[in-house]
Amino acid sequence: MNPKLLIVDDDEEIRTQMKWALAKDYEILLAEDRPSALETFRSAQPHVVLLDLGLPPHPGNPEEGLAALSELLAQDNTTKVVIISGQGEKENALNAIGAGAYDFLGKPIDVEELKLLLKRCFYVSQLEREHRQVQQLLQGETFEGMLGTSPPMRTVFESIRKVATTDAPVLILGESGTGKEMAALAIHRKSARKDGPFVTINCSAIPETLLESELFGHEKGAFTGAHAQVKGRIETANGGTLFLDEIGEIPLPVQVKLLRFLQEKRIERVGGRQEIRIDARVIAATNADLKKSMAGGSFREDLFYRLAVVQIVLPPLRDRETDIRLLAKSFLKRFAAPLNKAGLTFDQEALRAISRHQWPGNVRELENRVRRAVIMAEGKRLTAPDLELTSGEAGAQPATLNAAREALEREMILQALRKHSGKISPAAAELGVSRPTLYDLMEKLGISRDKEEPK
Ligand SMILES: Nc1ncnc2c1ncn2[C@@H]1O[C@H](COP(=O)(O)OP(=O)(O)OP(=O)(O)O)[C@@H](O)[C@H]1O
Ligand SMILES: [Mg+2]
Repeated sequence: MNPKLLIVDDDEEIRTQMKWALAKDYEILLAEDRPSALETFRSAQPHVVLLDLGLPPHPGNPEEGLAALSELLAQDNTTKVVIISGQGEKENALNAIGAGAYDFLGKPIDVEELKLLLKRCFYVSQLEREHRQVQQLLQGETFEGMLGTSPPMRTVFESIRKVATTDAPVLILGESGTGKEMAALAIHRKSARKDGPFVTINCSAIPETLLESELFGHEKGAFTGAHAQVKGRIETANGGTLFLDEIGEIPLPVQVKLLRFLQEKRIERVGGRQEIRIDARVIAATNADLKKSMAGGSFREDLFYRLAVVQIVLPPLRDRETDIRLLAKSFLKRFAAPLNKAGLTFDQEALRAISRHQWPGNVRELENRVRRAVIMAEGKRLTAPDLELTSGEAGAQPATLNAAREALEREMILQALRKHSGKISPAAAELGVSRPTLYDLMEKLGISRDKEEPK
């Protein structure tokens, strides 16, 4: 795709000429006055703008053009603005440069000169953008602890910002280890409920028979072993946010009760008769394919539509190309400091291996590999073998027996999980291990999060 270039000029002939001259190399956006320039700039976010200073309603003086210039730069100060100035307007053009424009070009325009200048503009703007990203990383700048400057993560942060201001249920989707729980917490922290509780329940880590009472609580004597009245997680989340993790694992009878809670904002404890009003925002997450579960009848459609009022999809790490190294470096910094290994860095081959790896376990896998490597590292440099990543080209053998075993285990587990749309029980059955063993393995391999134990 060609880079976007915004041309702002009130003279239609000039707009047409420039478009004609530049359309081969750039995606041309056109505007004829300040408001339309701003609007186009906001929606398309071009990195370079060609700006005529004499814009309506004052085409005779530079006022409107200078105002446009400062508004554009206020939106994004890495934008390169080139002033197109008529004859005898050099002084205005110089003023514009004083106000932050990158360069100016006099009319009549020499197309070759313009093309060279534009190339340089895009190049410098790119450099500045990259520099800004590194600065952000060094300052540890994050979005509620989440690192990321790649386009798909910016979209995620934008969605989080938007939904945080509402009370609507949110469904967070994404492969294992992509940061679903972090995103849920970010929504809570950015919301008006931030001073209320954030209560998590991992629906897959709790045996099906206990899940109902874990969620809704129970009265004394509700079932054998119910020695006292116990509040459920939903009740605990009153005034705050309830995070239902691995929602795809909820058995159908509990789904019905959950749906009722979402509709009526009331619950009854197991064995209780009294209705309790609950004010909790619900966020759910899953790495399972709920559409498939609905088709197969194991997940209720009405519950899905209640939960998925807003959906946020966390991209797999392999789709966040520019973030992978940033994350690796920041984990290295974080884990090295307490071990007095602050000078530790990745060597070139390690960085290449990090970029090449497919990261099936996503951010958690990256975090785990770096943590382990930092502990094991002896020199000043972390190598690809320290990370148990192959340093050769794709398809090479794992470096150690341990890495080979883990790679195979990981592959088989991911396959089984995919086959069963992320459902733990059937995947465990297929692999010939118990549910808890599968959890342990997933945890070890960075496929899943630390599982909660039922209280
Ligand atoms: N953008 C990020 N920046 C920094 N750390 C991150 C980011 N995303 C995830 N992590 C870290 O990666 C790990 C996994 O994140 P999290 O538990 O939120 O993922 P998840 O999608 O809920 O995983 P699972 O599906 O296994 O439950 C956590 O240790 C978290 O701190
Ligand atoms: Mg999780």
